[in-house]
Amino acid sequence: MSADVDTDAVASGPVPALTARAAACADRLRAADRVLLASHIDADGLTSAAIASRALERAGIRFETTFEKQLDRAAIERIARTSYDTVLFTDFGSGQLDVITEFEREFTPVVADHHQPADAETEYHLNPLLEGIDGAAELSGAGASYVLGRALGGEANRDLAGLAVVGAVGDMQDGDGGLSGANEGIVREGVEAGVLAEETDLLLYGRQTRPLPKLLEYASEARIPGISNDEAGAVSFLADLDLDLKEEGEWRHWVDLTGEERRTLVNALMRHAISRGVPADRINALVGTTYVLTDETPGTELRDVSEFSTLLNATARYERADVGLAVCLGDRGPALDRARRLLRNHRRNLSEGLQWVKTEGVTVEENVQWFDAGSRIRETIVGIVAGMAVGSGGVRHDLPIIAFADAGDGEVKVSARGSHALVRQGLDLSVVMREASQAVGGDGGGHDVAAGATIPASEREAFVDHSDRIVGEQL
Ligand code: C5P
Ligand code: C5P
Ligand code: C5P
Ligand code: ZN
Repeated sequence: MSADVDTDAVASGPVPALTARAAACADRLRAADRVLLASHIDADGLTSAAIASRALERAGIRFETTFEKQLDRAAIERIARTSYDTVLFTDFGSGQLDVITEFEREFTPVVADHHQPADAETEYHLNPLLEGIDGAAELSGAGASYVLGRALGGEANRDLAGLAVVGAVGDMQDGDGGLSGANEGIVREGVEAGVLAEETDLLLYGRQTRPLPKLLEYASEARIPGISNDEAGAVSFLADLDLDLKEEGEWRHWVDLTGEERRTLVNALMRHAISRGVPADRINALVGTTYVLTDETPGTELRDVSEFSTLLNATARYERADVGLAVCLGDRGPALDRARRLLRNHRRNLSEGLQWVKTEGVTVEENVQWFDAGSRIRETIVGIVAGMAVGSGGVRHDLPIIAFADAGDGEVKVSARGSHALVRQGLDLSVVMREASQAVGGDGGGHDVAAGATIPASEREAFVDHSDRIVGEQL
C-alpha cells in the first residue's frame, strides 16, 4: 500500500457495513487454486462478472467465467459437476442458497448478491440485506461485487466503480435524485477515481444516441401530451424553438447541445408540460441526477450509464453474454460492433412486445393485472416489457403487473413488476413470486419491487389466483 492512501477508507471500504463479509470472501478466494465465476445474464449480472473478473485477475487468482439465465437446481448441478472447488456467484446465489448448500461437499460457494436470501446460511456470503441495507434500491449485484473487488485489491480497484453504477442503474436502483444509500459510497469512489461524473441533466433516456425528436417522442415515462409518443408533435415542438437544432439536415443529439441550448429546451419543455396540465411531480422529474462514464466517447451508448446498461441487456438476454462481458472489459472493436447489432434487435423486440401488450391489453383481477405473451415475447425480456408497459399508459399504475411467456419444456416464465408506492403500502413481490410459484410446483424470488418465477405451464391460472390472494394480504 502506498503512503498517500487513506488507510481508514481502505480499511472500511465503500460500504463499511459489508467490509467484514467482503474481507472473509476475499480471503477465501485468495486461498483457492482456481475459481469458477458464475453470474446472471442481465446488465447487473454482466457488470458484476466484469468487476469480479478484473479483481480476480489483478489479484493473480486463476478463474473461468460462466453465465446462467436462472440459477435453478439444474444449473447448480452443472456447476457442481465441474472440477472447481470454489465457485464465486455474483448477482445471484442468495435466493438459491438452500439448493447450493446441498452441494457444499462438491464446492465452496462465495456469494456476492443482493437478492432476498433463501432460508439457508453459508460462510462466505456478501449481501446488503444481511446488514439491513435495501437490496432492491441501495446496492446491486455489481455493487456487491465492487465491494468484494475493493476487499481484493484495495483502492487500485476504484476504477471499477463505473461498472458498478451501470449495474445499479441497469437494475433501476436510481430515482430522480440519482442513486442513494450504499450506492452513494460507490459513486463517490468512482468520482474520486476520475471514471465517473455526476451531473444534473434532463432525465430522458437516450441523451447520447437519440436524435432530439426521438429523445422526446420515445420518452413515454414523461407522459407529456403532444410530445410523448407523438412523432409529429415532438418535431413541431422542436421546430418552434428559436434554436438551430439541425446540422447538415440531421437532427442533433442532446449531448451535442451547449449548456445554453439545453436550458432553453428544458424551459420550453416544462412550459409546454405545464400548459398541458402535467402534474408538478412529473415535471420536476424531468430533470435530475445522471451519471456519465468520463473515459468513454461522448455520443456513444457507453458514455451514459443507462444506455450502457441497455446495450448489455441486448447481449446477455440473447445468449451473447460473452459479447457484453467483452465490452465491459474494454473491447471497443468487434465486441462493440456486435453489441450494437444486438441492440438494434433488442430495441425492435421491445417495441414490438410493447405494441403487442398495448393491443391485447391486460386482464385485471382484484389485486393484480396480468398478460400472457405466449411465444410473442422472449421470456428473457418479458419483464422489461412489463415494466415499460406500466410506464407507457393503457396499463394501471396502482396494481402490480404479472407477465407470462413460454419458457419451453412445459414451463412458463413469470415476471412481476410493482411500483415504489405499492412497496410502501406493503407489496413484496419476491414473497409473492416465491410463495405462489412454490404452491404450484415452481420456484421464484427477486426483490420487493420486481421479481420473477418459473412454473409449470398448466398451473398459470392457479398461479394467478395465489398471487392475487397474497398481494391482497400484503396491501
Ligand atoms: O436480477 P436482477 O436483480 O438483476 O433484476 C432486477 C430487475 O428488476 C431488472 O429487470 C430491473 O429492471 C427490475 N426493476 C424494476 N423496477 C425497479 C427495480 C428493479 O423493474 N424499481
Ligand atoms: O435498462 P433497461 O433495459 O431495464 O431499460 C428498459 C428498456 O427500455 C431499455 O432496454 C431501453 O431500450 C428501453 N427504453 C426506451 N425508452 C425509454 C426507456 C427505456 O427505449 N424511454
Ligand atoms: O426475469 P425478471 O427480470 O422478471 O426478474 C426479476 C427479478 O426476479 C430478478 O431480480 C430475478 O433475478 C428474479 N427472479 C428470481 N427467480 C426466478 C425469476 C426471476 O429470483 N425464477
Ligand atoms: Zn441484480
